[in-house]
Amino acid sequence: MLKKWWHNTIGYQIYPKSFQDTNGDGIGDLKGITAHLDDLVDLGINVIWICPINKSPMKDHGYDISDYEEIDSIFGCKDDLRELIQEAHKRGIKILMDLVVNHTSSEHPWFQKALEEPGGEYGKYYIIQEGKDGKEPNNWRSIFGGSAWERIKDTNLYYLHLFTKWQPDLNWENPILRQRIYNMVNRWLDLGISGFRIDAISHLKKDFTYKNLPSDGVDGFVNGFPYFSNVDGIGTFLRELQENTFKHYDAMTIGEVDEGLPADVLWEFIGENGYFSTIFDFCHSTLHVNSTEWKDKPVEMIDELKKRLFAKQNTVKGKGILCNYLENHDLSRIVERFIPTKEIDFYSKSMVGGINFFMPGIVFLYQGQTIGMMDYQKENIEEFEDPTTFIQYDEYLQNGMTKTEALAQINLKTREHARTPMQWNDGKYAGFSSTEPWFSVNPNYRQINYDLQKKNPDSLYAFYKKMISLRKSDEFQELFIYGEFTPIYETEPGIIGYERRLNDKRVLIINNAKSTEAILQVSGTIKKILLSNYKNTVLQNGIIKLHRYQLLILERV
Ligand code: NOJ
Repeated sequence: MLKKWWHNTIGYQIYPKSFQDTNGDGIGDLKGITAHLDDLVDLGINVIWICPINKSPMKDHGYDISDYEEIDSIFGCKDDLRELIQEAHKRGIKILMDLVVNHTSSEHPWFQKALEEPGGEYGKYYIIQEGKDGKEPNNWRSIFGGSAWERIKDTNLYYLHLFTKWQPDLNWENPILRQRIYNMVNRWLDLGISGFRIDAISHLKKDFTYKNLPSDGVDGFVNGFPYFSNVDGIGTFLRELQENTFKHYDAMTIGEVDEGLPADVLWEFIGENGYFSTIFDFCHSTLHVNSTEWKDKPVEMIDELKKRLFAKQNTVKGKGILCNYLENHDLSRIVERFIPTKEIDFYSKSMVGGINFFMPGIVFLYQGQTIGMMDYQKENIEEFEDPTTFIQYDEYLQNGMTKTEALAQINLKTREHARTPMQWNDGKYAGFSSTEPWFSVNPNYRQINYDLQKKNPDSLYAFYKKMISLRKSDEFQELFIYGEFTPIYETEPGIIGYERRLNDKRVLIINNAKSTEAILQVSGTIKKILLSNYKNTVLQNGIIKLHRYQLLILERV
């Protein structure tokens, strides 16, 4: 594999609204990120991806951009970004922005002009169609629920929005629009950022036949993914984007490519000359140990997780590398997703963080993950903030759930759990802000916070630091990035084990992802224990006795 600068990425994702407020408005800002760079250096990361910071009405917390050229004033200004980049570079950290070009905000001037004159120049920047028989042009369901079309005032015209109605989809078939996007992308790269995480990129191309399809729900709509996700021909846009922008800057790009990318086209996406450096993998995101499907079957769920993670590695093998992550701003916290509530403690938290950490690929961590932040269950639906939560809640009610059931379902899976303010210390508002934050701090901040864990050599934070330093060590970095991957103990329930091998070096990574001990036989001679989340490891005559939720990394000959 051709070596690239970003192959040794230990990335850290920041949700800027909730990271650190410095100007006392209760909302995180760019200066807050700069203020914590030394903490991120201490952790050992070398790339930061910041969720959108462009000007936005914040209907989707920044994923609805109304001015691509400006920074939203709640986060600061361009000079703050320049300062952040400069200070980060001094510390060996590169900055990635979020690129949201599948759609804009409905308040973007392009869209406003399109509304005024749908048949005019700007109407061609969006996807506007005639309705049929007094209804939407077709029955596609928006990814966030409801119709994917919104009627334009009192006309028979509708615009397409795959996400909320405040996020009209851009028309990538229009070469003038595409060129404007490329120019904008290059301006940010010229400013000094090192690349992008690219939002919703698999939806750029739509199947323009707009056929009505048999409905798959009581709402009369249909999941239209085959018609607007990785549709044939999308590669032409992606190649053009890459050639007009990223390629000239050796930029790092992480495509948010929804599940379902066929194996035979992976090479085009992440191969040596792929459209992107790497892609985020969604294979684990639907699993939740407290969902109806997996409740009381935690080991079966882990085995399903194992199956999916291994299958994914198999699919990308020889084609490119994945971006391995477990948490992000769209998912609830990992310990809640994979560990039964009564089993959550240091051991289960540290083991779970390591589940895919040493698999081939680059690593991305999410703010709060390294201190084990947890979901904040709400007692009232009004305590949430995200419009999509309310859309979902209404849908649950329409489907016959009671209010209590609907709230329980939201509390189980809402992406808002990841968005509570960062817990820096045990002071008021967890050190996030001097004033009441835009979204409530989880009351557990007195027990779970950064300051407390930084001081403690046995904390979860300290364990993440050890995992990072092992991955980055001179001795093993190449092995973890480029080494062969072979599953081991594949049929052992609740065990996620694999070997990484490069030349004569062999490392075994074994996760006992269950609440009971496990006894396993190890073949070959063990040279050294490289890492364990337990102080005592029982390893004798080729037999290992793993503690509940033990993560063990061994070097063997
Ligand atoms: C994916 C982002 O991660 C999510 O937060 C956002 O709502 C959608 N794309 C739409 O931009």
